[in-house]
Amino acid sequence: MGLKIKNKEIEILIPENKIKARLKSLANDIKREMKGNEEIIAIGILKGSFIFFADLVRELGNNIKIDFVVVSSYFDKMESSQNIVFKKDIETDIEGKNVLLIDDIIDTGRTLKALVEYFKKKNPKNLKTCVLLDKKERREVNYDADFVGFEIPDKFVVGYGLDWGEEGRTLKDIYFVK
Ligand code: PRP
Repeated sequence: MGLKIKNKEIEILIPENKIKARLKSLANDIKREMKGNEEIIAIGILKGSFIFFADLVRELGNNIKIDFVVVSSYFDKMESSQNIVFKKDIETDIEGKNVLLIDDIIDTGRTLKALVEYFKKKNPKNLKTCVLLDKKERREVNYDADFVGFEIPDKFVVGYGLDWGEEGRTLKDIYFVK
């Protein structure tokens, strides 16, 4: 019998060792493109990104500052522009800074696109986005992250920070629900 969440069987999609290896190459790409000797302000989008964020920023080395946002994932379907509802905004002044926005997954693309538009208004010097997982076939808006760990099929995924109704976030591997 395999592992279950909410009485449904789950199966490994990306094992822990593959995530760890990909993190190193991802961090190298980010360092090469963004860092030089400059500080990076890493902004995590909670809650899903918390484990990926913690692992990735440690691979980025020193000269990193961190902050977090919590946003609601509801979008007004009547509005053509995306309004994001903050439950928590950042506390750092990002004007003129090198900013990296980090999320666990890009799905419709609405969250990341709206946050990029919001943070650009604060005049950072450079603003890039990084996601661990990209469900490309689910995209509803025209936005792709600058750095992507893995492109994945349209399956429901849990583990490594991602939840199903708050369950499964602390699983070390990434699973899909069968
Ligand atoms: C997930 C994920 C992203 C967003 C992506 O968050 O962490 O922030 O959805 O979806 P999108 O591309 O369709 O906008 P969720 O609302 O599940 O909250 P959580 O991070 O607290 O689990």
